[in-house]
Amino acid sequence: MAVLVTGGAGYIGSHMVLDLLEAGEEVVVVDNLSTGFRRAVPQEAAFVEGDVGDGALIARLMADYGVDAVIHFAGSIVVPDSVADPLGYYLNNTVNSRTLIAEAVRARVPHFIFSSTAAVYGIAREMPVGEDAPLQPISPYGTSKLMTEWMLRDTAIAHPLSYVALRYFNVAGADPKGRTGQSTPRATHLIKVACEAALGKRPGLEIYGRDYDTSDGTCIRDYIHVSDLIRAHGDALRHLRAGGDSAVLNCGYGHGASVLEVLDAVERAAGCTLDKRDAPRRPGDAPELIAGADRIREVLGWTPIHDDLDGIVSSALAWERKL
Ligand SMILES: NC(=O)c1ccc[n+]([C@@H]2O[C@H](COP(=O)([O-])OP(=O)(O)OC[C@H]3O[C@@H](n4cnc5c(N)ncnc54)[C@H](O)[C@@H]3O)[C@@H](O)[C@H]2O)c1
Repeated sequence: MAVLVTGGAGYIGSHMVLDLLEAGEEVVVVDNLSTGFRRAVPQEAAFVEGDVGDGALIARLMADYGVDAVIHFAGSIVVPDSVADPLGYYLNNTVNSRTLIAEAVRARVPHFIFSSTAAVYGIAREMPVGEDAPLQPISPYGTSKLMTEWMLRDTAIAHPLSYVALRYFNVAGADPKGRTGQSTPRATHLIKVACEAALGKRPGLEIYGRDYDTSDGTCIRDYIHVSDLIRAHGDALRHLRAGGDSAVLNCGYGHGASVLEVLDAVERAAGCTLDKRDAPRRPGDAPELIAGADRIREVLGWTPIHDDLDGIVSSALAWERKL
Protein backbone atom coordinates (compact mmCIF):
# COMPACT_ATOMS: atom_id res chain seq x y z
CA MET A 1 0.00 0.00 0.00
CA ALA A 2 1.48 3.35 -1.00
CA VAL A 3 0.56 7.00 -1.35
CA LEU A 4 1.09 8.59 -4.76
CA VAL A 5 2.17 12.22 -4.34
CA THR A 6 2.02 14.27 -7.53
CA GLY A 7 4.15 17.41 -7.49
CA GLY A 8 6.13 15.99 -4.57
CA ALA A 9 9.29 17.82 -5.69
CA GLY A 10 7.58 21.20 -5.27
CA TYR A 11 7.26 23.53 -2.31
CA ILE A 12 4.22 22.07 -0.55
CA GLY A 13 4.51 18.52 -1.93
CA SER A 14 8.06 18.10 -0.59
CA HIS A 15 6.78 18.85 2.93
CA MET A 16 4.06 16.25 2.43
CA VAL A 17 6.56 13.58 1.39
CA LEU A 18 8.64 14.14 4.53
CA ASP A 19 5.54 13.95 6.71
CA LEU A 20 4.30 10.72 5.09
CA LEU A 21 7.71 9.07 5.42
CA GLU A 22 7.83 10.06 9.10
CA ALA A 23 4.43 8.41 9.54
CA GLY A 24 5.85 5.19 8.08
CA GLU A 25 3.99 5.38 4.74
CA GLU A 26 5.38 4.07 1.47
CA VAL A 27 5.56 7.04 -0.89
CA VAL A 28 5.88 7.32 -4.65
CA VAL A 29 6.37 10.76 -6.16
CA VAL A 30 5.61 11.72 -9.74
CA ASP A 31 6.85 15.13 -10.79
CA ASN A 32 7.91 16.56 -14.16
CA LEU A 33 10.33 18.98 -12.46
CA SER A 34 8.83 21.95 -14.34
CA THR A 35 9.05 24.02 -11.15
CA GLY A 36 10.15 21.36 -8.63
CA PHE A 37 13.56 20.04 -7.68
CA ARG A 38 14.76 16.43 -7.61
CA ARG A 39 16.85 17.22 -4.52
CA ALA A 40 13.66 18.16 -2.60
CA VAL A 41 12.55 14.49 -2.59
CA PRO A 42 14.24 12.31 0.03
CA GLN A 43 15.87 9.05 -1.07
CA GLU A 44 13.39 7.04 1.04
CA ALA A 45 10.61 7.96 -1.39
CA ALA A 46 10.39 6.41 -4.85
CA PHE A 47 10.77 9.18 -7.43
CA VAL A 48 9.58 9.06 -11.02
CA GLU A 49 10.23 11.98 -13.34
CA GLY A 50 7.11 12.14 -15.45
CA ASP A 51 3.87 13.91 -16.18
CA VAL A 52 0.54 13.58 -14.44
CA GLY A 53 -1.04 13.74 -17.88
CA ASP A 54 0.74 10.53 -18.91
CA GLY A 55 -2.06 8.04 -18.22
CA ALA A 56 0.02 4.95 -19.03
CA LEU A 57 2.72 6.00 -16.54
CA ILE A 58 0.16 6.77 -13.82
CA ALA A 59 -1.58 3.41 -14.40
CA ARG A 60 1.74 1.58 -14.09
CA LEU A 61 2.65 3.38 -10.85
CA MET A 62 -0.74 2.70 -9.30
CA ALA A 63 -0.48 -1.00 -10.11
CA ASP A 64 3.22 -1.46 -9.24
CA TYR A 65 3.02 0.28 -5.87
CA GLY A 66 -0.48 -0.74 -4.82
CA VAL A 67 -1.52 2.88 -4.42
CA ASP A 68 -4.46 3.40 -2.04
CA ALA A 69 -4.41 7.20 -2.00
CA VAL A 70 -3.42 10.00 -4.34
CA ILE A 71 -2.39 13.39 -2.99
CA HIS A 72 -2.44 15.72 -5.98
CA PHE A 73 -0.26 18.82 -5.71
CA ALA A 74 1.06 18.96 -9.28
CA GLY A 75 -0.09 22.01 -11.17
CA SER A 76 0.71 25.46 -12.47
CA ILE A 77 0.21 28.11 -9.83
CA VAL A 78 0.98 31.67 -11.00
CA VAL A 79 -2.28 33.61 -11.34
CA PRO A 80 -1.07 36.29 -13.83
CA ASP A 81 0.52 33.57 -15.99
CA SER A 82 -2.87 31.86 -16.13
CA VAL A 83 -4.37 35.07 -17.53
CA ALA A 84 -1.67 35.18 -20.22
CA ASP A 85 -1.87 31.44 -21.00
CA PRO A 86 -5.34 30.18 -20.07
CA LEU A 87 -5.21 27.10 -22.27
CA GLY A 88 -1.87 26.06 -20.79
CA TYR A 89 -3.42 26.31 -17.32
CA TYR A 90 -6.56 24.40 -18.32
CA LEU A 91 -4.32 21.70 -19.80
CA ASN A 92 -2.03 21.29 -16.83
CA ASN A 93 -4.51 21.87 -14.02
CA THR A 94 -7.76 20.54 -15.45
CA VAL A 95 -7.08 18.13 -18.33
CA ASN A 96 -4.13 16.45 -16.60
CA SER A 97 -6.14 16.18 -13.37
CA ARG A 98 -8.87 14.48 -15.37
CA THR A 99 -6.35 11.89 -16.58
CA LEU A 100 -5.14 11.30 -13.03
CA ILE A 101 -8.68 10.92 -11.67
CA ALA A 102 -9.61 8.57 -14.54
CA GLU A 103 -6.61 6.35 -13.80
CA ALA A 104 -7.49 6.37 -10.09
CA VAL A 105 -11.00 5.15 -10.97
CA ARG A 106 -9.64 2.52 -13.36
CA ALA A 107 -7.16 1.22 -10.76
CA ARG A 108 -9.82 1.35 -8.01
CA VAL A 109 -7.75 3.72 -5.89
CA PRO A 110 -10.23 4.55 -3.12
CA HIS A 111 -8.96 7.93 -1.84
CA PHE A 112 -7.96 11.23 -3.40
CA ILE A 113 -6.79 14.49 -1.79
CA PHE A 114 -6.65 17.58 -3.97
CA SER A 115 -4.83 20.93 -3.60
CA SER A 116 -7.50 23.48 -4.34
CA THR A 117 -7.33 27.18 -3.63
CA ALA A 118 -9.15 30.17 -2.17
CA ALA A 119 -8.99 31.55 -5.73
CA VAL A 120 -12.19 29.57 -6.42
CA TYR A 121 -14.09 32.27 -4.48
CA GLY A 122 -12.86 35.22 -6.58
CA ILE A 123 -13.69 38.51 -4.86
CA ALA A 124 -15.75 37.24 -1.93
CA ARG A 125 -18.45 39.56 -0.60
CA GLU A 126 -18.38 38.38 3.01
CA MET A 127 -15.43 37.80 5.29
CA PRO A 128 -14.46 35.30 6.54
CA VAL A 129 -15.38 33.34 3.43
CA GLY A 130 -17.03 29.98 4.13
CA GLU A 131 -17.07 26.93 1.88
CA ASP A 132 -20.66 27.63 0.84
CA ALA A 133 -19.90 31.13 -0.45
CA PRO A 134 -20.48 31.77 -4.17
CA LEU A 135 -17.77 30.28 -6.40
CA GLN A 136 -16.79 33.01 -8.84
CA PRO A 137 -13.12 32.68 -9.76
CA ILE A 138 -11.71 35.69 -11.57
CA SER A 139 -8.69 33.98 -13.13
CA PRO A 140 -8.19 30.92 -15.34
CA TYR A 141 -6.08 29.54 -12.48
CA GLY A 142 -9.04 29.64 -10.09
CA THR A 143 -11.40 28.25 -12.72
CA SER A 144 -8.99 25.44 -13.62
CA LYS A 145 -8.94 24.36 -9.97
CA LEU A 146 -12.70 24.67 -9.51
CA MET A 147 -13.26 22.46 -12.55
CA THR A 148 -11.11 19.79 -10.92
CA GLU A 149 -13.16 20.07 -7.72
CA TRP A 150 -16.28 19.50 -9.80
CA MET A 151 -14.78 16.50 -11.59
CA LEU A 152 -14.01 14.96 -8.21
CA ARG A 153 -17.50 15.72 -6.90
CA ASP A 154 -19.17 14.01 -9.85
CA THR A 155 -16.70 11.12 -9.98
CA ALA A 156 -17.23 10.38 -6.28
CA ILE A 157 -20.95 10.02 -6.95
CA ALA A 158 -20.47 7.65 -9.88
CA HIS A 159 -17.53 5.56 -8.62
CA PRO A 160 -16.16 4.19 -5.34
CA LEU A 161 -13.77 7.09 -4.78
CA SER A 162 -13.85 9.40 -1.76
CA TYR A 163 -11.99 12.69 -1.80
CA VAL A 164 -11.07 15.76 0.18
CA ALA A 165 -10.44 19.02 -1.66
CA LEU A 166 -8.53 21.46 0.49
CA ARG A 167 -8.87 25.13 -0.45
CA TYR A 168 -5.57 26.64 0.62
CA PHE A 169 -5.37 30.28 1.60
CA ASN A 170 -1.87 31.87 1.64
CA VAL A 171 0.65 29.13 2.28
CA ALA A 172 3.96 30.31 3.76
CA GLY A 173 6.90 29.29 5.91
CA ALA A 174 9.15 26.26 5.75
CA ASP A 175 9.83 22.98 7.49
CA PRO A 176 10.80 23.84 11.10
CA LYS A 177 13.63 21.28 10.86
CA GLY A 178 15.04 23.13 7.84
CA ARG A 179 14.82 20.15 5.46
CA THR A 180 12.74 21.83 2.75
CA GLY A 181 11.09 25.13 1.89
CA GLN A 182 10.05 27.26 -1.04
CA SER A 183 12.82 27.23 -3.63
CA THR A 184 10.87 28.44 -6.68
CA PRO A 185 12.61 31.21 -8.61
CA ARG A 186 10.35 34.17 -9.56
CA ALA A 187 7.97 33.32 -6.73
CA THR A 188 5.28 35.93 -6.21
CA HIS A 189 4.30 35.12 -2.63
CA LEU A 190 4.72 38.13 -0.32
CA ILE A 191 6.63 36.41 2.52
CA LYS A 192 9.00 34.71 0.07
CA VAL A 193 9.61 37.96 -1.83
CA ALA A 194 10.16 39.94 1.39
CA CYS A 195 12.65 37.34 2.68
CA GLU A 196 14.55 37.54 -0.63
CA ALA A 197 14.63 41.33 -0.31
CA ALA A 198 15.78 41.12 3.33
CA LEU A 199 18.73 38.95 2.25
CA GLY A 200 19.71 41.22 -0.66
CA LYS A 201 18.53 38.78 -3.34
CA ARG A 202 16.31 41.45 -4.82
CA PRO A 203 16.60 45.22 -4.49
CA GLY A 204 13.37 45.79 -2.61
CA LEU A 205 9.67 45.27 -3.03
CA GLU A 206 6.46 46.98 -3.99
CA ILE A 207 3.43 47.54 -1.81
CA TYR A 208 0.48 47.29 -4.18
CA GLY A 209 -2.04 49.78 -2.81
CA ARG A 210 -2.16 51.60 0.52
CA ASP A 211 -5.68 52.93 0.13
CA TYR A 212 -7.75 49.81 0.80
CA ASP A 213 -10.51 49.91 3.38
CA THR A 214 -8.46 47.96 5.95
CA SER A 215 -6.87 48.86 9.28
CA ASP A 216 -3.62 50.18 7.71
CA GLY A 217 -4.76 50.54 4.08
CA THR A 218 -2.90 47.45 2.77
CA CYS A 219 -4.35 44.07 1.77
CA ILE A 220 -5.02 41.45 4.44
CA ARG A 221 -4.46 37.72 3.82
CA ASP A 222 -4.79 34.55 5.89
CA TYR A 223 -1.22 33.15 6.03
CA ILE A 224 -1.05 29.49 6.97
CA HIS A 225 2.18 27.73 7.94
CA VAL A 226 2.98 24.98 5.44
CA SER A 227 3.45 22.45 8.29
CA ASP A 228 -0.11 23.07 9.54
CA LEU A 229 -1.36 22.70 5.97
CA ILE A 230 0.44 19.37 5.68
CA ARG A 231 -1.10 18.19 8.96
CA ALA A 232 -4.50 18.88 7.41
CA HIS A 233 -3.59 16.48 4.58
CA GLY A 234 -2.55 13.82 7.10
CA ASP A 235 -5.86 14.34 8.91
CA ALA A 236 -7.72 14.11 5.58
CA LEU A 237 -5.98 10.84 4.72
CA ARG A 238 -6.91 9.32 8.09
CA HIS A 239 -10.48 10.57 7.66
CA LEU A 240 -10.88 8.97 4.25
CA ARG A 241 -9.21 5.70 5.23
CA ALA A 242 -11.56 5.49 8.23
CA GLY A 243 -14.50 5.67 5.84
CA GLY A 244 -15.21 9.39 6.24
CA ASP A 245 -17.31 11.24 3.68
CA SER A 246 -15.89 13.32 0.88
CA ALA A 247 -15.46 16.98 1.81
CA VAL A 248 -14.40 20.37 0.50
CA LEU A 249 -12.63 22.33 3.22
CA ASN A 250 -10.96 25.70 3.61
CA CYS A 251 -7.42 25.62 4.90
CA GLY A 252 -6.58 28.81 6.77
CA TYR A 253 -6.48 30.10 10.33
CA GLY A 254 -9.54 32.34 10.20
CA HIS A 255 -7.62 35.56 10.74
CA GLY A 256 -5.13 37.52 8.72
CA ALA A 257 -2.21 39.91 8.56
CA SER A 258 -1.81 43.02 6.43
CA VAL A 259 1.04 43.57 3.99
CA LEU A 260 2.60 46.06 6.41
CA GLU A 261 2.30 43.63 9.33
CA VAL A 262 4.05 40.95 7.27
CA LEU A 263 6.83 43.34 6.26
CA ASP A 264 7.28 44.42 9.90
CA ALA A 265 7.63 40.76 10.89
CA VAL A 266 10.25 40.19 8.18
CA GLU A 267 12.20 43.28 9.29
CA ARG A 268 12.08 42.06 12.92
CA ALA A 269 13.25 38.57 11.98
CA ALA A 270 16.02 39.76 9.64
CA GLY A 271 17.07 42.80 11.69
CA CYS A 272 16.96 45.07 8.64
CA THR A 273 14.87 47.78 7.02
CA LEU A 274 13.35 46.73 3.72
CA ASP A 275 13.39 49.02 0.69
CA LYS A 276 9.62 49.39 0.19
CA ARG A 277 8.08 51.26 -2.72
CA ASP A 278 4.44 52.23 -3.08
CA ALA A 279 2.79 50.95 -6.25
CA PRO A 280 -0.77 51.10 -7.61
CA ARG A 281 -3.32 48.45 -6.69
CA ARG A 282 -3.16 45.30 -8.83
CA PRO A 283 -6.35 44.43 -10.67
CA GLY A 284 -8.20 41.57 -8.98
CA ASP A 285 -6.64 42.00 -5.52
CA ALA A 286 -9.38 41.84 -2.89
CA PRO A 287 -8.86 44.05 0.17
CA GLU A 288 -9.20 41.09 2.50
CA LEU A 289 -9.25 37.30 2.15
CA ILE A 290 -9.81 35.31 5.33
CA ALA A 291 -10.84 31.67 5.61
CA GLY A 292 -13.95 30.58 7.40
CA ALA A 293 -11.98 27.95 9.29
CA ASP A 294 -14.53 26.08 11.41
CA ARG A 295 -15.53 23.26 9.08
CA ILE A 296 -12.07 21.71 8.76
CA ARG A 297 -11.80 21.56 12.56
CA GLU A 298 -15.22 19.92 12.82
CA VAL A 299 -14.77 17.41 9.99
CA LEU A 300 -11.11 16.49 10.36
CA GLY A 301 -10.41 17.51 13.97
CA TRP A 302 -7.57 19.63 12.56
CA THR A 303 -5.71 21.65 15.19
CA PRO A 304 -3.06 24.03 13.92
CA ILE A 305 0.12 24.44 15.99
CA HIS A 306 2.09 27.07 14.03
CA ASP A 307 -0.47 29.90 14.02
CA ASP A 308 2.07 32.68 14.62
CA LEU A 309 3.20 35.19 11.98
CA ASP A 310 6.67 35.66 13.51
CA GLY A 311 7.22 31.89 13.50
CA ILE A 312 6.08 31.59 9.88
CA VAL A 313 8.39 34.39 8.81
CA SER A 314 11.39 33.08 10.80
CA SER A 315 11.09 29.62 9.22
CA ALA A 316 10.81 31.14 5.71
CA LEU A 317 13.83 33.36 6.35
CA ALA A 318 15.89 30.46 7.72
CA TRP A 319 15.14 28.49 4.54
CA GLU A 320 15.89 31.47 2.30
CA ARG A 321 19.34 31.81 3.93
CA LYS A 322 20.10 28.21 2.95
CA LEU A 323 19.30 28.66 -0.76
N1 LIG B 1 1.57 28.01 -2.65
C1 LIG B 1 0.35 28.44 -2.35
O1 LIG B 1 0.18 29.45 -1.62
C2 LIG B 1 -0.86 27.71 -2.88
C3 LIG B 1 -2.14 28.24 -2.60
C4 LIG B 1 -3.25 27.55 -3.07
C5 LIG B 1 -3.11 26.35 -3.76
N2 LIG B 1 -1.86 25.88 -4.03
C6 LIG B 1 -1.76 24.62 -4.79
O2 LIG B 1 -0.83 23.75 -4.16
C7 LIG B 1 -0.19 22.93 -5.13
C8 LIG B 1 1.31 22.95 -4.89
O3 LIG B 1 1.77 24.30 -5.00
P1 LIG B 1 3.28 24.71 -4.68
O4 LIG B 1 3.26 26.07 -4.09
O5 LIG B 1 3.97 23.61 -3.96
O6 LIG B 1 3.85 24.85 -6.17
P2 LIG B 1 5.19 24.27 -6.83
O7 LIG B 1 5.28 24.89 -8.19
O8 LIG B 1 6.34 24.41 -5.91
O9 LIG B 1 4.86 22.71 -6.96
C9 LIG B 1 4.17 22.13 -8.04
C10 LIG B 1 4.92 20.87 -8.44
O10 LIG B 1 4.18 20.20 -9.45
C11 LIG B 1 5.08 19.81 -10.49
N3 LIG B 1 4.27 19.71 -11.70
C12 LIG B 1 3.59 20.71 -12.34
N4 LIG B 1 2.91 20.21 -13.39
C13 LIG B 1 3.14 18.87 -13.41
C14 LIG B 1 2.69 17.81 -14.23
N5 LIG B 1 1.88 18.03 -15.28
N6 LIG B 1 3.13 16.56 -13.97
C15 LIG B 1 3.97 16.32 -12.94
N7 LIG B 1 4.41 17.29 -12.12
C16 LIG B 1 4.00 18.55 -12.35
C17 LIG B 1 6.16 20.87 -10.49
O11 LIG B 1 7.37 20.44 -11.08
C18 LIG B 1 6.31 21.14 -8.99
O12 LIG B 1 7.24 20.27 -8.41
C19 LIG B 1 -0.62 23.47 -6.50
O13 LIG B 1 -1.61 22.61 -7.03
C20 LIG B 1 -1.21 24.83 -6.19
O14 LIG B 1 -2.21 25.20 -7.10
C21 LIG B 1 -0.73 26.53 -3.61
